[in-house]
Amino acid sequence: MSALDLIRPDLRGFGGYLSARKQNSGGAIWLNANEAARPQAFDTQQLNRYPEPQPKALAETLAAYYGVELDQLLLGRGSDEAIDLIVRALCIPGSDRILIQSPTFGMYAVCARLHACTVIDSPLQETEAGFGWDIAGMIATARRDNCKVLFLCSPANPTGQSLPRADLERLLEALAGQCLVVVDEAYGEYSAQASALEILARYPHLAVLKTLSKAHALAGARIGAVIATPELIAVLKTCQAPYPIPKPSATLVLQAFSETALANTRSGIAQCLTERRLLHTALAALPMIERVFDSDANFLLVRCTNSESLSAYLLAEGIVVRAMRQYPALQDCVRISIGTPAENERLLAVLDTFHGATHA
Ligand SMILES: Cc1ncc(COP(=O)(O)O)c(C=O)c1O
Repeated sequence: MSALDLIRPDLRGFGGYLSARKQNSGGAIWLNANEAARPQAFDTQQLNRYPEPQPKALAETLAAYYGVELDQLLLGRGSDEAIDLIVRALCIPGSDRILIQSPTFGMYAVCARLHACTVIDSPLQETEAGFGWDIAGMIATARRDNCKVLFLCSPANPTGQSLPRADLERLLEALAGQCLVVVDEAYGEYSAQASALEILARYPHLAVLKTLSKAHALAGARIGAVIATPELIAVLKTCQAPYPIPKPSATLVLQAFSETALANTRSGIAQCLTERRLLHTALAALPMIERVFDSDANFLLVRCTNSESLSAYLLAEGIVVRAMRQYPALQDCVRISIGTPAENERLLAVLDTFHGATHA
């Protein structure tokens, strides 16, 4: 099976837009893209010119960092764009289906809806151990409903758990030829579970999403990547806007891969993991907290006695957490991102007064 078998039949052979930068490169006098001839006086980056569609230095750096070939990686505006591209390239509007496992990251369903595709849900199961996947149920559902794309979030947002490697391989084995399995590793750097990239070579129907928005601390730069077979990457490229990566972002993000910046990223992750453990213990000891779910990511999902009034109280004190009301399974839950030690301390101090306020 080739990943190309999963592409929309009407897009096979589609070349996409041929931008000026794609058509011709090199030369010294650029008169082919209707750009302004002179840059602004304040501009030090020649922003009068369109950027490279896939900035080479950044793509090469990320490919080396993730241990893949250049033609296996597509840069985009965060993993949000990768999700959208995958849905658009694979799913026939009005007839194809994607499979999610609720409660999960909302963009999979949003992109499918915007593309007139049906969202099939094989919900996570809550047990004593926390939330987990029903692998047999997912395989059966994907086959029964003929799903074209399976989005798997690992570590999962908002529930925090990682998908065990054996479960991922079971899904991949069972669904070969059926659907593209997309593992969204937005929070992968915080997890003890190794990346699905390790098994990419064995599964042409596997795609992995990476982002610089979380552990690399560059959410404002809007850079992410999808990593898959060269054939699938080539097709996704044809579905992408002509110049998706702004030059200032590409230039800035390259700096995140210097030794110094990478050391800083590693220490940020280490601090987050320490704080996650401390915060987990401290939150679990609070009387209005019923459950703190184990987390492999940079947030904690917390079930409490009154999530509405708790988040309103925190907001009044200037602390913004994410109420999970939109998820039926998480009505009484809030998701709390791990902050700096000072922010976490402040959160706990305010929660202490909330307890006092409600029991005065
Ligand atoms: C699971 C998951 N995937 C993807 C994204 C989008 O990330 P990006 O900033 O790379 O678009 C998020 C953002 O919160 C996320 O939680």
